[in-house]
Amino acid sequence: MKKFTCVADIGDINRALNEAREIKKDRFAFSQLGKNKTLLMIFFNSSLRTRLSTQKAAMNLGMNVMVLDVNQGAWKLETERGVIMDGDKAEHLLEAIPVMGSYCDLIGVRSFANLVDKKSDYEEKVLSQFIEYSGKPVFSMEAATRHPLQSFADLITIDEFKTKERPKVVLTWAPHPKALPQAVANSFAEWMNATDYEFVITHPEGYELAPEFVGKARVEYDREKAFKGADFIYAKNWSAYSDPNYGKVLNKDPKWTVDSKAMSLTDGAFFMHCLPVRRNMIVTDEVIESDKSIVIPEAANREISAQTVIKRFLES
Ligand code: CP
Repeated sequence: MKKFTCVADIGDINRALNEAREIKKDRFAFSQLGKNKTLLMIFFNSSLRTRLSTQKAAMNLGMNVMVLDVNQGAWKLETERGVIMDGDKAEHLLEAIPVMGSYCDLIGVRSFANLVDKKSDYEEKVLSQFIEYSGKPVFSMEAATRHPLQSFADLITIDEFKTKERPKVVLTWAPHPKALPQAVANSFAEWMNATDYEFVITHPEGYELAPEFVGKARVEYDREKAFKGADFIYAKNWSAYSDPNYGKVLNKDPKWTVDSKAMSLTDGAFFMHCLPVRRNMIVTDEVIESDKSIVIPEAANREISAQTVIKRFLES
């Protein structure tokens, strides 16, 4: 494997799930695989789960790990070619990337959408430059349009908790005070579309995701209808994708907060969220603290998804 940025890069998802199950049985079984190999994790944005779970996964495989927070202690990086660098950015990404690549065997990158320039975001400008210029295999730790390590962990979690072969999974938009990227929702949709699960997306009008991510999902604007008979409710906020509102917050209606009344419409559904979550905006205290909330095992599976992916890199 040379890169991991989307569901297609993992290949057959059943094979990937089997590998994840094997790792979960004994996460130290391959502790020699990464001996004398170094993972460099580069963060352009904040993180709790991705940072800790990916570092732990690499350590389970015997790797050395270096972490760079680009905005804390490193030179400010220019990302656009052709700019006269007379401002506060001291180094260009085009020198920084191959230099970083020279110190490691594998690179993880977190670089969110800026939500200003849709074309630049959906071209994955930063991540694609790492893939092109680092000379090393690269994986996404959440990029502008996708969060594949999260979605793989979500798939592992659904696989563990499902009680029927073909569960009904609902991705529901929920309110948030700030504009967030579409990456987690896009990615979750992409991974659910790779399964044969019944998959429904519900959101207020104006929050339609890009058609390539919606895929074969049923879009249902009526949340009550969407929740009926659901086995998994996956809540997430995202900002508008469609022009001219790209990156804007169009709605903060609390009736979209996931509460016990909404959950009572489901078939005893489990509640999921990638975290961090704004309580009583996205989900009520009562729902997230209920015995149907699986946000903690979901987050714990981030270690397993990361280890499955890093093991693939080490083996290739
Ligand atoms: N879910 C997730 O990626 O969490 P962090 O932003 O804390 O890494």
